[in-house]
Amino acid sequence: MDDGWSGTAVPGAADGSGGAAWASRVDRHDLMFAEITEELVVAARLGDGDLVLDVGCGAGATALAAARRVGSGSVVGADISAPLLAVAAERARDAGAANVRFENADVQVHRLPAAGFDVVLSRFGMTFPEDPGRAWANVARTLRPGGRLAFSCFHDLASSEYLVLLRSAVATVLGDRDVPELDGPDESGPAFLAEPDGIRGFLAAAGFADVEVVDSAATFWMGHEPDDAAEFVLGMVPARALLETLTPGERSAVRTALTALLSSRASADGVRLGAGTWTVTARHAEHDHGSDFVATTSRLRSAAAGRWTT
Ligand SMILES: C[S@@+](CC[C@H](N)C(=O)[O-])C[C@H]1O[C@@H](n2cnc3c(N)ncnc32)[C@H](O)[C@@H]1O
Repeated sequence: MDDGWSGTAVPGAADGSGGAAWASRVDRHDLMFAEITEELVVAARLGDGDLVLDVGCGAGATALAAARRVGSGSVVGADISAPLLAVAAERARDAGAANVRFENADVQVHRLPAAGFDVVLSRFGMTFPEDPGRAWANVARTLRPGGRLAFSCFHDLASSEYLVLLRSAVATVLGDRDVPELDGPDESGPAFLAEPDGIRGFLAAAGFADVEVVDSAATFWMGHEPDDAAEFVLGMVPARALLETLTPGERSAVRTALTALLSSRASADGVRLGAGTWTVTARHAEHDHGSDFVATTSRLRSAAAGRWTT
């Protein structure tokens, strides 16, 4: 992934040359996902004093939204992307948010504080393609017994409405020729996340109960105007991979066709498309833990604001 979503390949991040373009794309993604963020913090039932972990926090929008709701509590955002974490820390400073901090941590293997959090949140960050089982067990371990999990994930990337419209625009231009398959990184994560039964099964195995998988009614805000929205869509990673298979003339025709399709979705609020996401909530099952867990929990809760690993 190379548009600011993953840890290693933010264009120009190393020397700062791509910083402005990349940072504006981060802001744009946060506008796109604003309804999801709101839905997530509501689903997590955050309250004063909660200790919250945002898994795969990226540039920190969800962590900051949570921090506004937990008052005397605190939020830790964890990610493996140093450039995104730097943006997150700067945003926290700008917002004067003293109850949030960001950590460079691979959530699959990092020694997260056992039972150190009341809530784990994640906006599209629970994918862990390498080893989901180990990662989710690690996340479960850092939630106190009875603690809450709330995350968003995609139905599957190919059915995202912006990609459906893009493929439709490409089909218009190619006529009889087949539309190339979407190729490149699939940010939607492992297949089990795309299906409610798969999500439920995986969460049960990781020690969660009361699992609810809700088909989100949230929309993605794609831009102010159809033209602006088309430019944004065409700059997204899966779109770029698809466009690379076309000639410059075909690419230009795709843009025109896509703008026309997006025009039908424009309103006073801008261009909005269906998100195609699940909002998942669950409770960390209490029976999985021994009696010494309560003592561990209270020790770690008092330390959690200042200490990251056990
Ligand atoms: C799809 S992005 C979502 C970012 C953010 N939650 C948002 O909605 O803007 C997934 C994020 O997970 C992070 N990530 C991937 N693998 C990770 C890991 N093993 N541990 C922690 N973060 C990880 C990536 O760096 C990326 O920022």
